[in-house]
Amino acid sequence: MSKITAAITAVNGYVPDYVLDNKELETIIETTDEWITTRTGIKERRILKGEGQGSSVMGAEAVKGLCEKRGISPEEIDLLICCTVTADHIFPATANIITDKVGATNAFGFDLNAACSGFIYGLTTGSKYIESGSHKKVVVVGVDKMSSIIDYEDRTTCIIFGDGCGAVLLEPNEDGLGIQDAILKSDGSGAQFLSQKAGGSAYPPTHETVDAKEHYARQDGKTVFKFAVTNMADVSAEIMEKNNLSSDDVAWLVPHQANKRIIDATARRMGVSDDKVMLNIHKYGNTTSGTIPLCLWEWENQLKKGDNIIIAAFGGGFTWGSIYLKWAYNS
Ligand code: UT7
Repeated sequence: MSKITAAITAVNGYVPDYVLDNKELETIIETTDEWITTRTGIKERRILKGEGQGSSVMGAEAVKGLCEKRGISPEEIDLLICCTVTADHIFPATANIITDKVGATNAFGFDLNAACSGFIYGLTTGSKYIESGSHKKVVVVGVDKMSSIIDYEDRTTCIIFGDGCGAVLLEPNEDGLGIQDAILKSDGSGAQFLSQKAGGSAYPPTHETVDAKEHYARQDGKTVFKFAVTNMADVSAEIMEKNNLSSDDVAWLVPHQANKRIIDATARRMGVSDDKVMLNIHKYGNTTSGTIPLCLWEWENQLKKGDNIIIAAFGGGFTWGSIYLKWAYNS
């Protein structure tokens, strides 16, 4: 019997309607469109508005559309992994809320938190359920409502992050397509450089934590940038080398969209030209777990069966890694 691999068989995305552009940010904080564009590549980002509207709202929309595209009923989903740092609640898991909203009554689900590397961790985890033969339809959602943990008085973070969601369906493949290899890494000593201090068990919410604005994401941008540039480029080169891939063999690089300068450095290190790099940071900013599936969604029509794709991410934790996959279908 041929080996079972986990292939992406459908992809979908959802972004909220509200556009927060650099011009509007100029009216909120001391910044300029020119500064943001040259330092990050970001022009605008989407914001999910409305009371009680959490990440599951975007996740459910993305998963509903995913099932429609693939022509399956949500009841056929076996497992739903929701990668997020902005869960609707501390518990229950947002995965459970999404499965309920879409009617995935036969699925079990859990949340996975690896910050900006969430989607690659989730995709790798989901692929194992397929490869083992235990599950046939696994949905991996990457979603974040970053606006819920952003301080719009902090110009070092509010210019970067946005809200958005992407989702993929994984199914067994016996033709050698789908996920080929993954290298995942983490280094907890970097935790202090990008985090949300309060709200968890170490610093539960109090009037003091709220007054001190400790429920917002904070980062030491320069340090994160330095680690991201090196590690995302290194791990992408490592997975190519490990799989004997030259830059000519790579059809697409799908990089986490944190800063265009980090993406450029990764592409240079891999020897991949700009026309092979998926880039939508100018439209959505950094949607944390959402960036990579949102790219796949936007580029889906250009992807061909058999295309070699390298996915790379770096995020808080620190967490980082790379996935090598062969695209499994023509649109
Ligand atoms: O998804 C993974 C997690 N995040 C990342 O990967 C983000 C990594 N870091 C970055 O992308 C960059 O470090 C930032 C975009 C956050 C900042 O860019 P930078 O080139 O590292 O700027 P900087 O922090 O060194 O600041 C340079 C100057 C400072 O002024 P002085 O001290 O030189 O006078 C800042 O105060 O730019 C100032 N500055 C701003 N000016 C206008 C910082 N933020 C802004 C702003 N608008 N929004």
